[in-house]
Amino acid sequence: MSGVCLLSTILRRLPPSEATGLRTGARHSLAELYRPADLVVLGLGVMIGAGIFSIAGRQAATMAGPGVILSFMIAGIASLLACLCYAELSSTMPTSGSAYTFTYVIFGEVWAWIIGWALILELQLAAAVVARAWGELTVRAITNFGVRLPYQGLVVDLLVLLILALLTGIVALNARIGLRTLWIVVAAKLLAIGAVIVVGAMHVRAANFGDFHAEPKPVAEPSATVLNVFLGQSDAFGWFGIFAAAPAIAFAYIGFDIVATAAEETVNAPRAVPGGMIRSLIITTIIYISVAVVMVGIVPYTKISLDAPLSSAFRGVGVDWMVHVIDIGAVLGLTTVILVLLVGQTRVMFSMARDGLIPRGLATISRRYHTPSRVTLVIGGIAILLAEFAPVFTLEQLVVMGALFAFLFVAAGVIVMRRRMPHLDRGFSVPLSPLVPALSLAATLWLMVNLHVITWAWFVLWMAFGLLVYLGYGRRHSLLAPPREPSALGRGRHRR
Ligand code: ALA
Repeated sequence: MSGVCLLSTILRRLPPSEATGLRTGARHSLAELYRPADLVVLGLGVMIGAGIFSIAGRQAATMAGPGVILSFMIAGIASLLACLCYAELSSTMPTSGSAYTFTYVIFGEVWAWIIGWALILELQLAAAVVARAWGELTVRAITNFGVRLPYQGLVVDLLVLLILALLTGIVALNARIGLRTLWIVVAAKLLAIGAVIVVGAMHVRAANFGDFHAEPKPVAEPSATVLNVFLGQSDAFGWFGIFAAAPAIAFAYIGFDIVATAAEETVNAPRAVPGGMIRSLIITTIIYISVAVVMVGIVPYTKISLDAPLSSAFRGVGVDWMVHVIDIGAVLGLTTVILVLLVGQTRVMFSMARDGLIPRGLATISRRYHTPSRVTLVIGGIAILLAEFAPVFTLEQLVVMGALFAFLFVAAGVIVMRRRMPHLDRGFSVPLSPLVPALSLAATLWLMVNLHVITWAWFVLWMAFGLLVYLGYGRRHSLLAPPREPSALGRGRHRR
C-alpha cells in the first residue's frame, strides 16, 4: 500500500449520521434506561471514590500541604472546562463511544483508535486501581470494628476478586439492577461525606491553614514531573507541590466523562447528557473542596497519615467514631465507582467493536439481558487480572493521563466541528467558543506536564503498542474499509 493510500485509509472519517448507529442499527439494541436524575447519580457514583477518600490526603501529606485545597480548585476548573466541551459533543453525537466516536467523526479513524485506546487504559486501569483500594479499605474497615483478620494480604486478594466478579455480573446481567443499586449506594455515600463535612467543620482551626505554602522540599527523581525536568527544579510543597498535586487530584474528578458513554441509553440524550454531566461535576466539586478544607483544617497536614488520611485527621481531634462512618462511606463509595467504570468501559469497547476496530463479536448484545454481556465479561476478567497481579497503585497516574489525552481531543473537536459541521443540531453549546475550548486545551496540557516523567514513558509505550494493533487489525477490519478482493472475502472477514 502506498503512503498516500495508507494515509487516506487511516484518516477516513465516520459520517455524523452514522455515528449514532443508523448504519448498523445497533444504536437501538441498547435499551433506553437513564433519565436526567439517573445521570447525575451516575456521575456522583463514579466520581466520588478513591480520589477523595485516599488520594487527596496523600497529596496533602506529601505534596501540597493545606494548598491541596488549591490543587482541588485547579483540577476542578480544568475538569469543568473539559466537561463543557464533552457536553457539546455528546449533545450532538449521543453515542456510547463518547470521545472515541466524536474523534472518529471529527478527526478520522486512526485518531479515534488512539483515543479509544487511551480510554481503555483509563477505564480498565481505574477499575483495577479502585478495586484494589476497595479491598484494602474493606479489610481496614473490618479491623477497625475490632475483628482480627489473619492473612490480611490473602483476604484483600479474595475481596478484590469477589467485588469485581459481583459487579461484572451485575453489569452483564441487567443494567436495571445496577441502576437501582447505584441510587441506594450513592445516597448512603453522600450521607457519609455529609457527616465528614458537618462534623469536621466543628473542629476546623484557622491555625492549621497557616502553613499554606509549606516549605518546598526536593522530590525523589522517579516522581519528578515533566515540568520539573523542563525547569530543572523538582520540589514538593510550595507552588510546585500544589501544581504537581493537581493532576493526581484530577483522578478524583474522573467520571464526568464516563457519563457521556451512557448517551445511547438515555431518554432525550441531547439535553439530558449535558445536564447530567455538568450538574454532577458541580456538586462533586463543591463536595471535594469542602472535604479538603475540613481535612487540612482539623489537624496540621503533617499529622495526616498516608494509609487512612481522613480517618487519621478525625482521630487527631479525638472523634474516633467518625472512623467507622468514613470506612463505610469509602467502601460504599468505591463500590459504585467500580460499577460505573465497568459500565463505561463496556460501552467504549462495545462501540469500537461495533465499528469493527476490535473483534465484532464483542458488540453482541445478549438477547436475554439486553446488555453487551460478552464484552462485559472480557473487561471484568481483565480487571481481575490487573487488580490481582499488577502493581496498580504505581500506575495510578496513567489513568489520569488516559483521561487528559481524551480531554485534549474533545476540546479541539469542539473548535473543529463548529467550523466544519456548523449545521449539526446541538442540544448544548459551549459558551464563548472558541475561547472556552482553547482554555480547556491549555488547562489540560498544563495538568499533563505536571504528570510524572515515568507516567509519560508508560503512556507512550501503551500508545505505540496500540498503534501496532490498529495497523495489524483495526485498519483492515474497520466497517469503513473498502470491500475486500473475492479471495479475501472468501475467508469471511468483511461484513457490511
Ligand atoms: N473519580 C474516581 C475516584 O476517585 C475514579 O475513585
